[in-house]
Amino acid sequence: MLNFIRLTVVGAAIRPILASTFRVFDNTAYTNTSIGYGSTNINWIPAYVCNPLTEGGVLPSADNWKAIVLEWNIYPSYPLVLDCEELYFTSTSTADLNLEIMSTLQTWAADVIPDEQIIGWYGLSGNTISSLYDHYRSLISNYSNHAFFPSAYTYSDSISTWNTSLTSVVNVINTIDDSLPIWPYTWPQYHGNYSFIPGELWQNELEVLAANKNLDGFVVWGGKNHAVCNDACQAIAGDEPWLNITREYLDTLYGIYGTVAQKSGAQLFN
Ligand SMILES: *[C@@H]1O[C@H](CO)[C@@H](O)[C@H](O)[C@H]1NC(C)=O
Ligand SMILES: *[C@@H]1O[C@H](CO)[C@@H](O)[C@H](O)[C@H]1NC(C)=O
Ligand SMILES: *[C@@H]1O[C@H](CO)[C@@H](O)[C@H](O)[C@H]1NC(C)=O
Ligand SMILES: *[C@@H]1O[C@H](CO)[C@@H](O)[C@H](O)[C@H]1NC(C)=O
Ligand SMILES: *[C@@H]1O[C@H](CO)[C@@H](O)[C@H](O)[C@H]1NC(C)=O
Repeated sequence: MLNFIRLTVVGAAIRPILASTFRVFDNTAYTNTSIGYGSTNINWIPAYVCNPLTEGGVLPSADNWKAIVLEWNIYPSYPLVLDCEELYFTSTSTADLNLEIMSTLQTWAADVIPDEQIIGWYGLSGNTISSLYDHYRSLISNYSNHAFFPSAYTYSDSISTWNTSLTSVVNVINTIDDSLPIWPYTWPQYHGNYSFIPGELWQNELEVLAANKNLDGFVVWGGKNHAVCNDACQAIAGDEPWLNITREYLDTLYGIYGTVAQKSGAQLFN
C-alpha cells in the first residue's frame, strides 16, 4: 500500500501534489561501500544467526534472543528484519508451532527496541501456502507495526521472469493484508553464482520497482557474509556497475541535486 501525502506549495496557486513515500533501504555490508544518496537505514538479523537458534522449531532463551536483537539493531527506530528461514508457513504440521515461535521472538524483540519500530520477516510471504494465510494474519495481529519484506533476488538474466516472480509474491501479500508497507529485498548479485548482475538488468529492476504502485520502496541487500561475497568480491563490489546506477537512480528519484523529486522518502546522507 502506498501512503499518499498531500503537499501544498506555498505561494502561487495552491497545487496539491500527490507524493508517495518510497523508501530505498541500504542493507548492504560490502567493505568500504555504502549507498548514501538518500537511502535509509535498516536493521537485520541474518539467517546464519537465526536459523541455528530456531532449527527444528525451538526457541532460544529470552535473554539470548534479546541480546542478539540489541547487537543487530544498530539503527534503533528503523525497521528490523528477521531472516529466520527455518520458520516458514509452508507446512500445516509445523505452522502452529512456527507461529508461536515467531510471535514470541517478535514480542521479545519489541521489548528491547523503541516503541513503534517496525518488525518484519524476510521472505515469509513467498513461503506461506494459501491455507496458512490466517497464520500470517495472526502473526501480524500479534505485533501490528509490521511490514512485508519479500525476496526479489535475481536468478536469471530475464527481467520479465524477475518481474513475474515479484508480481506473484505481491499478489500473495495483497491477499494476506493490503494495508502494510511492502519492501522487497533486492540484491545486485545473482542468487545462484554470486556474480554481480549486469548494469542494464539492475537498472531495469530499479525502474520496475519505482513504477510498481503496490510497493512502498525496496531494500538493497549485499552481504559481508563470506559465503556470498568473498575477499575478491569485496574488493570489486564498489566498482561494479550497480553502485553508480543506484546512486544515479536515487539522485533522480529524490531530486538530490536539485531536480524535481519523483518520490518523497529520502533520508539525509548517511
Ligand atoms: C504475541 O504472542 C506472544 C507469544 O504467544 C505472547 O506472549 C504475546 O502476549 C502476544 N502479544 C499480543 C499483543 O498478542
Ligand atoms: C551467473 O548466473 C547468471 C544467471 O544464471 C548467468 O547469466 C551468468 O552468466 C553467471 N555468471 C557466471 C560468472 O557464471
Ligand atoms: C512488471 O509487472 C507489472 C505488473 O505487476 C507490470 O505492470 C509491468 O509493466 C511489468 N514491467 C516489466 C518491465 O515487465
Ligand atoms: C577498505 O579501505 C581500507 C582503508 O582505505 C583499505 O585498506 C582496504 O583495502 C579496503 N578494502 C577493500 C576490500 O577495498
Ligand atoms: C556515475 O558514473 C559517471 C561516469 O563515470 C559519473 O560521471 C557520475 O558522476 C557517477 N555518478 C555517481 C552518482 O557517482
